[in-house]
Amino acid sequence: MSQIIEVRVPDIGDFKDVPVIEIAVAAGQRVACDDALVTLESDKATLDVPAPAAGVVSELKVKLGDRLAEGSLILLLQTEASKTEKPAAVAVAPVSTAQPAPAAAPQPMATTVAPALAVETAPAGKAHASPSVRRFARDLGVDVTRVPGSGPKGRILHQDVQAYVKGAMAGGGAAGGGVSGGAAFDLLPWPKVDFAKYGPVETRPLSRIQKISAANLARNWVMVPAVSYREDADITELEAFRLKVNEENAGSGVPKLTLLAFLIKAVVAALKRFPDFNSSLDGDTLVLKQYFHVAFAADTPAGLVVPVIRDADCKGIFELAAEAAALAKKAREGRLMPGEMAGACITISSLGGIGGTGFAPIVNAPEVAIVGANKSAIKPVWDGATFVPRLILPLSLSADHRVIDGVAATRFNLFLAQALADMRRVLL
Ligand code: COA
Repeated sequence: MSQIIEVRVPDIGDFKDVPVIEIAVAAGQRVACDDALVTLESDKATLDVPAPAAGVVSELKVKLGDRLAEGSLILLLQTEASKTEKPAAVAVAPVSTAQPAPAAAPQPMATTVAPALAVETAPAGKAHASPSVRRFARDLGVDVTRVPGSGPKGRILHQDVQAYVKGAMAGGGAAGGGVSGGAAFDLLPWPKVDFAKYGPVETRPLSRIQKISAANLARNWVMVPAVSYREDADITELEAFRLKVNEENAGSGVPKLTLLAFLIKAVVAALKRFPDFNSSLDGDTLVLKQYFHVAFAADTPAGLVVPVIRDADCKGIFELAAEAAALAKKAREGRLMPGEMAGACITISSLGGIGGTGFAPIVNAPEVAIVGANKSAIKPVWDGATFVPRLILPLSLSADHRVIDGVAATRFNLFLAQALADMRRVLL
């Protein structure tokens, strides 16, 4: 049955008293689920609040410049009869996770919905555009930093991107390299195949997280000239130590030590030793970070998400293990907040619990490196006199070659392997 729902500002983490800078809809306008309704902008981030369901806007409750906070009423939406609103989700570039709607107070006249939210915390280059405009540009293969903005303070609007594409199609932009899709690369169009001609098929739409991940991964794959480097870490002693400590603490309530926690510790030490790995490119400038926030890829039923452990340099191994476990659990339950997936310096992708002997992870821009780990295995290692069985952890580092050359990457990897072989090195 069709109903009127109140669309309110969902939990937006640290952002409070945020002005409305764009209103993308008007009363009477039909919207599809996930269409951007309004854009909010704090000094740190631009946030799109998309429609939680398809329907018709029955009444707008905000105007440009209004300052909103969590729970502020944005508009009333007459939902379509056949559709139920989707559960709220929080999305953060570059990857995100599904988020159950916060409990809402019952309303006498309408159902309250905390909608999905798109947050852009790291604007591409100096472009001033909302997440929906960035997504729109990305979908069209447009480098948003090249689009002249006609909105307030030079903000790039949807129509600016459209105008830019029109110009490019007419020969004005593509030659300058502005359109970064098939036009610029002169690629063949994506193959259109009627697979059903060859046998039975079924179709499954990508999840929201998969779509966001796909767009980010594709951009990173195309735009980051990354090289992958392999190294073996001898973790024989480390693993024996880890198992011993876990055995000692069994049943005591002390968090279980994981290899991931040691990896985070070793990666922080490597970042300190090689500061260029703790950087991001901003045009021709390298931004060197003085903090150590480490992200790790977490596999969830809804897709891949990347929670971030903040100030990992200030945390002990138990704390890192407990926090990683808590974040991974939250990720699997779809309860991660945008702030818990933002601000990483480097990412660790651990497939060690599953298997594999090596891979080439995609750099999670604007980070410049990602560390991959696969399953450790006993290997024969020559000790100078004989082969001895050692527990070897395969490490796979991918690094942006614009910032990190092969020598630096190999040294970083080697340092990481040495630190894991003897964690006393992280104290040096
Ligand atoms: N070698 C051998 N065994 C390993 C290992 C490694 N490198 N890493 C973990 N294991 C073992 C653990 O010791 C554990 O065994 P135990 O229960 O006997 O102690 C088991 O594998 C399961 O570990 P896991 O659940 O993976 O925990 P974790 O702390 O190692 O990893 C996550 C946590 C969140 C990283 C993990 O659950 C995950 O999601 N990994 C996938 C990441 C991903 O998708 N990457 C790809 C990005 S494209």
